[in-house]
Amino acid sequence: MVTTDIDTESMHEHVVIRRGPRSGLPIIVAVHSTALGQAIGGCRLTHYRHWRDGLDDALRLSAAMSDKCALAGLPNGGGKTVVALPLGMTLDGASRRAALHDVGDVIAGLNGTYATGPDVGTGPDDMVTIAERTPYAFCRPVSAGGSGDSSEHTATGVLAALHALCVERFGSSDLSTRSFAVLGLGRVGGHVLRMLADARATLVASDLDDSRRALAGAAGAAWASPQDCLTADVDVLVPAALGGLLTPHTVPTLRCAAIAGPANNQLDAPTTADLLHQRGILWAPDIIVSAGGIIHATAVELHDETSAQATLRVHGIADTLTDILRTAGATGSTPADAARSHARQRIGSGHH
Ligand code: PHE
Repeated sequence: MVTTDIDTESMHEHVVIRRGPRSGLPIIVAVHSTALGQAIGGCRLTHYRHWRDGLDDALRLSAAMSDKCALAGLPNGGGKTVVALPLGMTLDGASRRAALHDVGDVIAGLNGTYATGPDVGTGPDDMVTIAERTPYAFCRPVSAGGSGDSSEHTATGVLAALHALCVERFGSSDLSTRSFAVLGLGRVGGHVLRMLADARATLVASDLDDSRRALAGAAGAAWASPQDCLTADVDVLVPAALGGLLTPHTVPTLRCAAIAGPANNQLDAPTTADLLHQRGILWAPDIIVSAGGIIHATAVELHDETSAQATLRVHGIADTLTDILRTAGATGSTPADAARSHARQRIGSGHH
């Protein structure tokens, strides 16, 4: 036998990289794990410098989905789809359909081991297009027989997490006395901002897209540049855009007391959790905070629950986060470590 350093245990089960026969675009589907059940994870359609960067993203995001599902108590594993658009390319209606049909065909070839859903750059209508090629697409519009847009449910989960986080960090779940910096006003971030405004929180918001400034205004939030929003002097930073924003370079510049948001893969590397810990900034692991979408979609579409029952489950994110933060506090580990070991335990024991 050949000895190697390859860690086959954390290795992905199945990765498909294909130049879409219709679209000519790189279609990447990464199935990380089906140990707990069907792998799930959204379809990201966005720009990358090189398709290999899209592959890296798919590998990282699908592995995070395995932990996310485990922590959410779902009988599912992790996967992710990336359609890697070259920089500057925009898709017209026909080429978008072509790309989504290419995605649908790849998923169809996986025989039900993976189901997709909306993610950065895709929405419920795109799931209808994918579903023309495979039944394994969550979150089609309710009118088309699906559970609808997941972003609102993801935002509900973020609010539940913020309540729990504020109890742990500030001793009260009252959001009206707290300030938040919401970084990213896309589909999920926009809902989170509105919900925080409804809770009468003090808000600052930002997005790379200046046209979203009106959204901030409507929520009574101050507008800032992404840089100023990241380093704002607030109680809680809410990352709701793309990942990788917490780095050895940015952590020393933060002025928040805690962080919780729906952006996936917020840490550039696992060790950045230690830097946050050393600075006394309480970080709620994104794999717990962002699970509302998958919790709602799977409850309604796989387990025949009503949307109201599913929403109750989404609120369970508060208890999960409380458990993890308290375990971390009691053991002196970071929330990131506590979350990871909880997830691995569950996956390792094949807990259904
Ligand atoms: N983007 C979400 C995720 O990947 C949404 C999703 C909902 C994905 C349902 C799959 C199924 O977590």
